[in-house]
Amino acid sequence: MNHGATGPLVWTAKVLTLFPEMFPGPLGHSLAGKALENGVWALESVDIRSFARDKHRSVDDAPFGGGAGMVMRPDVLDAALAATAGPPDAPGRGRAIYLSPRGRVLDQELVKELAATPVVTLLCGRYEGVDERVLDAHGLEEVSLGDFVLSGGEVAALCLIDAVVRLLPGVMGNVTTADEESFERGLLEYPHYTRPAVWTDGQGVERSVPDVLLSGHHEKVRAWRLAEAERITRARRPDLWSRYEAVRKAEGQNVGKQGRRRGPKPE
Ligand SMILES: C[S@@+](CC[C@H](N)C(=O)[O-])C[C@H]1O[C@@H](n2cnc3c(N)ncnc32)[C@H](O)[C@@H]1O
Repeated sequence: MNHGATGPLVWTAKVLTLFPEMFPGPLGHSLAGKALENGVWALESVDIRSFARDKHRSVDDAPFGGGAGMVMRPDVLDAALAATAGPPDAPGRGRAIYLSPRGRVLDQELVKELAATPVVTLLCGRYEGVDERVLDAHGLEEVSLGDFVLSGGEVAALCLIDAVVRLLPGVMGNVTTADEESFERGLLEYPHYTRPAVWTDGQGVERSVPDVLLSGHHEKVRAWRLAEAERITRARRPDLWSRYEAVRKAEGQNVGKQGRRRGPKPE
């Protein structure tokens, strides 16, 4: 089923699934939903079962070598992928991804890469997963939502599309929001506050907004937010923090080198 634009090229997600009715699902609401309606992006959900050829329309079979569960058949997936994405070297195929716990973990860097790719095909697995040969034959990349096991790739596909769509031009009202978000500078985001400036919680404790945010002093607010983002990242995500520190150090060294090169010659 097709949702969204049909004419000029817009960012398009093609989703191969046994549950096409799960799409657009939550993506049909709020900003992503409005953008879909306005043709800012397009969604094509493809029913894998419609490519089954036997009388039972079977899409899965028992695993060779024994073991629990079923495996999605390569011939059915091959037909679905060929009809939807085309062969691996087809011009304009874009990125073809199998959502899988074995894959590269989705992060903001990959989300940005995908937002810059006009067409992204997403294969959603079910049961024990898919026959390995179809991954090789179609050159599918594997992308994971994280180190846990979902019952199907659909929820992972919805998350991936949501993260991409909000980066597309014209989707988020306030474009500066994205620049300051978590991961944008390699940091988690600083805390947010809104009215009332003093709020009494359920235990009767008065909780105030940090004074600096009420000061109207933009430079001090900026410095406080950066310090908070650094504090939270250092405390919660040592992995991000060490990368951020390494980048800062390298930048510092570059600035130093440029400064030395550009600076006046010593007497
Ligand atoms: C029950 S899972 C199969 C898990 C597989 N037997 C394993 O142990 O790796 C069924 C499908 O859910 C999807 N899935 C599960 N966990 C996922 C994750 N962390 N990220 C992305 N997709 C996932 C995949 O498409 C997978 O084929």
